[in-house]
Amino acid sequence: MKVQMVPESKTFLKEIKNLPCYVRLMRKEDIAQVTKIDHEVFPTLWPPTNYKRELENRLAHYIVACDVRETVEEPRVEVASGKGLAGLASKVRRLFFGEEPPPSSREHVIGFAGFWIMADEAHLTNIAVRESSRRQGIGELLLILVIDLAIELKASIITLEVRASNTAAQSLYRRCGFIQVGLRRGYYISDREDGVLMSTENITSGSFQTHFQQVKQAYAERWGLALPQITRWSPTK
Ligand SMILES: CC(C)(COP(=O)(O)OP(=O)(O)OC[C@H]1O[C@@H](n2cnc3c(N)ncnc32)[C@H](O)[C@@H]1OP(=O)(O)O)[C@@H](O)C(=O)NCCC(=O)NCCS
Repeated sequence: MKVQMVPESKTFLKEIKNLPCYVRLMRKEDIAQVTKIDHEVFPTLWPPTNYKRELENRLAHYIVACDVRETVEEPRVEVASGKGLAGLASKVRRLFFGEEPPPSSREHVIGFAGFWIMADEAHLTNIAVRESSRRQGIGELLLILVIDLAIELKASIITLEVRASNTAAQSLYRRCGFIQVGLRRGYYISDREDGVLMSTENITSGSFQTHFQQVKQAYAERWGLALPQITRWSPTK
C-alpha cells in the first residue's frame, strides 16, 4: 500500500492498541490545536508556522497523535498570529473576505510531526508533544511513523536542524538513526543559538532498514505492542 498525496477527507490511521493514542495524517480541523501546541513549544519562532498553508502545500506531510481517551471542543484559535502585522492581516482578511479560521477538531491532539519532501530528501520541519504527554513514547512513535511515511513516499534521506541545547530531541533522533552531519553557527535568529544539522543515511539501504527494524522492535516490546501495529500506514474505511 502506498501513501500518496491524499485528499483531505481520506484518513490514514495507525491504531495503536495499548498506547493511549492513535496517529493519523493531519487535517484542517487540527490546525487550531497544532498551532496552539506550536506556540506553546516554540514561543520565539517568528514568523510562526502557518499550518493552513502547510496543509495546502503538496510538498508537506504532517501527522498528528490524538488521545484516545479525550475529545475536546477547544476555542477557535487564530491561524495567523494574533500579534503584529500577520495578526492585523488576518483580521482584515476575515473582515473583508469573510475568511474563518478552521474549526477545532473534536479529537484531542497531543503531538504532531511533519516534513517536506524535496527531490529525494525529506526534511523534518517539526515534531512536538504537549508537555503533559511527554515521556510516554509519543515523540518516538511520531518519529518512527514519519520515517515510515518518508520511506513510503520514496525519500532517500531525512534531514533536520535542532538547537544545540536540545539534547532531549537529539537523543530521540540518534536513537532513530540520525547522526550529526554539520553545525550551523547562530542558525536560530531569536537568540543566535547554533543549529545542529542531522541526517539519516540512505533510508532505503539495508543497514538503515535493519537498524530501523530494531528500533521498531524495541519500541514494540517496551510499550507492549505487536510489531505490525507500528509497521505500516493503513487506510481507514
Ligand atoms: C522532543 C520531544 C518531541 C520528545 O517527545 P516525548 O514524547 O517526550 O519523547 P519519548 O517519550 O518518545 O522519548 C523518546 C526518547 O527521547 C529522549 N528524550 C525525550 N525527552 C527527554 C528528556 N526530557 N531528556 C532526555 N531525553 C529525552 C530519550 O532518549 C527518550 O528515550 P527514553 O524514554 O528511553 O529515555 C518532546 O520533548 C518535545 O515536544 N519537545 C519540544 C519540541 C522540540 O524540542 N522538538 C524538536 C524540535 S527539533
